[in-house]
Amino acid sequence: MILIFLKIEYLTLDCGLPQLVGTIRQVSDNFTFTLNKRQINTMYAQEFQAIVERRRSNRKFDPNIQVPDEVIKRSIELAILSPNSSNMQLWEFYIVKSESKKKKFVSYCLNQSAAKTAQQFIVFVTRQDLWPKRAKWNLERIKESMEGEPKNTMQKRGLDYYGKLMPFVYFNDWLGITGCLRWLLTLVVGLFRPMMRFGGKADQRVVVHKSCGLAAQTFMLSIAAENYDSCPMEGFDEPRVKRELNLPLHAEVNMIIAVGKGLEQGIWGGRQRVPYNEVVFEC
Ligand SMILES: Cc1cc2nc3c(=O)[nH]c(=O)nc-3n(C[C@H](O)[C@H](O)[C@H](O)COP(=O)(O)O)c2cc1C
Repeated sequence: MILIFLKIEYLTLDCGLPQLVGTIRQVSDNFTFTLNKRQINTMYAQEFQAIVERRRSNRKFDPNIQVPDEVIKRSIELAILSPNSSNMQLWEFYIVKSESKKKKFVSYCLNQSAAKTAQQFIVFVTRQDLWPKRAKWNLERIKESMEGEPKNTMQKRGLDYYGKLMPFVYFNDWLGITGCLRWLLTLVVGLFRPMMRFGGKADQRVVVHKSCGLAAQTFMLSIAAENYDSCPMEGFDEPRVKRELNLPLHAEVNMIIAVGKGLEQGIWGGRQRVPYNEVVFEC
């Protein structure tokens, strides 16, 4: 009965996934007393699968359908909840608002199809240079929760983590000497026990781009859940984008995401993936 109700809701609401999600939540709330936890979990799994399957890289957006600013805001808010290395949040998100800037971004994105018809451009930026600020921010959050001296080992560890380990991991000098020393240290200690190998700026770049990529994925899934479409783009002229956004030297553009209401022609063929057995290994 629930399924029939959901199906009717789904069809009458123009297949709107957000509405579907809301309806499922409402229905599941009402029927909690009859549903056990396992059934509810299965319902969320189905929603999640629907959202993942709904997301495709769409390269042609409907010029007549705007993406509401609230959709973008909600999706960035969710992106910010993404897992990120040491909760350092070395990322920034730029929403390109002005029409003149949007025009420039079409050419910065090499006039590619998704960019030409995009309603919104969101630029995902890594900011490894902001590590002192973010480490301090995390330290302050721990101190706020302490009220005085650290009372337990978790709080002491937290203070050491952001007060000592993060500066050790992220500090760099112009000549790269600190990075070499750090790499050497992890190499030597790593001979005797398992150790995260971490050296200079290149390793730090990998770390911040990993986290930013996860945020980008959360963003795109949210856009799909809102019944809009996206296309991640790495085909862009980074120096021009950085100049346009007044980004400092050490900021990097992780990707630019074009958003709009996708058209069928924007999907270039079926979803092709290498077979499961070729990429998944049990060991
Ligand atoms: C980091 C990254 C960069 C990408 N850059 C571009 C791009 O510049 N232009 C484009 O049309 N698609 C781009 N894509 C989209 C991929 O081509 C697409 O995700 C892939 O073909 C799988 O298709 P699907 O997203 O529909 O599942 C990019 C995807 C990722 C993850």
